[in-house]
Amino acid sequence: MARRWIPLLWLIPIGVVLLVAAVLVAQWLRTLPDIQSFIATHPGETAIPAGTPVGFPWWLQWQHALNAFFLLLIVRTGLQIGSGKRPPAFWTRRNDGLIRTKNPPRRLSIHVWFHLVLDALWVLNGLLYWVLLFPTGQWLRLVPVSWDVVPHALSVGIQYLSLDWPTHNGWIHYNALQLLMYGFTVFVAAPLALFTGLRLSSIWPPRLAFVPEKPVRALHVFVMLYFVAFTVVHVGLVLATGALRNLNHMYAGRDDESWIGLVVFAGSLVVMIVGWVVARPALLTRLAALGGAVRR
Ligand code: HEM
Ligand code: HEM
Repeated sequence: MARRWIPLLWLIPIGVVLLVAAVLVAQWLRTLPDIQSFIATHPGETAIPAGTPVGFPWWLQWQHALNAFFLLLIVRTGLQIGSGKRPPAFWTRRNDGLIRTKNPPRRLSIHVWFHLVLDALWVLNGLLYWVLLFPTGQWLRLVPVSWDVVPHALSVGIQYLSLDWPTHNGWIHYNALQLLMYGFTVFVAAPLALFTGLRLSSIWPPRLAFVPEKPVRALHVFVMLYFVAFTVVHVGLVLATGALRNLNHMYAGRDDESWIGLVVFAGSLVVMIVGWVVARPALLTRLAALGGAVRR
């Protein structure tokens, strides 16, 4: 691992200590009568808005799995870009294809090239998801429509941290904390990754160069850390709160305790591992050569 990332490793022990402290505080809070009555009046789920669909359609399942696949490789290429090591190859776009620019194309490291290719696919997948969320009513699962989402989410947070899980049934309705976190990830974190990433790329127009690069780069890395932390907690909770049922929801579109969702999820992990293994310079340089000149 590059030396540049070593300071970030401190986040791991700090996070563990904070988490243990938070669990102890939450367990103590739950012994207080006021908190007990707060949780009783705010168990964790807001009223289901009219028109909210039940279950997950196949397109949403596919897009969720593709999102995880692309993000894995996006984070990997991001870390390779940030490592400061000399990349195995460089790529310069040929200026005679579909995209032609007045200025000559800039030379990119193969890692940046692959990062941008993956970003384009990730953004396309995400845009399609956004567009489909609205006519299908699925957006109602991700966007709060009443303010009582705040006390409910607080209550769920205390319940999770005290290690006494709230009951939840994501097939019909997410709990308030899931709703806020999923909504934030889809409608805030993802666009932030896109806009900060565009600022760092060579398509950013020179007349907007007053947007400073350094803090934007720091924000871009921060968004990456958010995605990684979100995924660790998200997958941890998916597995800890009824793994078979939850996996069936998102990977098989069914609400039972069969093993089908787990098998499909395992298949998606195999695809991710294969993607990780084949995305080596030997293949990437060959693909990159289709649209530009590759030099070692
Ligand atoms: C959505 C569209 C995105 C675009 C257009 C984009 C674009 C870029 C660009 C142009 C760079 C700088 C390359 C250079 O230094 O020459 C970069 C770096 C990076 N990107 Fe992205 N990116 C996007 C999404 C993401 C996402 C979703 C993540 C992680 C979840 C991510 C993680 C990183 C990391 C870690 C770096 C290295 C930053 C550094 O250490 O300097 N990017 N990205
Ligand atoms: C690869 C491992 C993953 C697994 C096993 C997984 C599993 C799940 C499951 C089971 C649900 C439905 C929850 C329920 O029924 O209560 C869900 C929803 C969701 N997941 Fe994941 N997930 C994974 C990765 C990710 C990643 C990497 C992201 C984004 C960074 C993500 C974002 C979301 C979002 C936004 C939803 C809500 C989707 C909607 O309802 O439209 N997941 N996930």
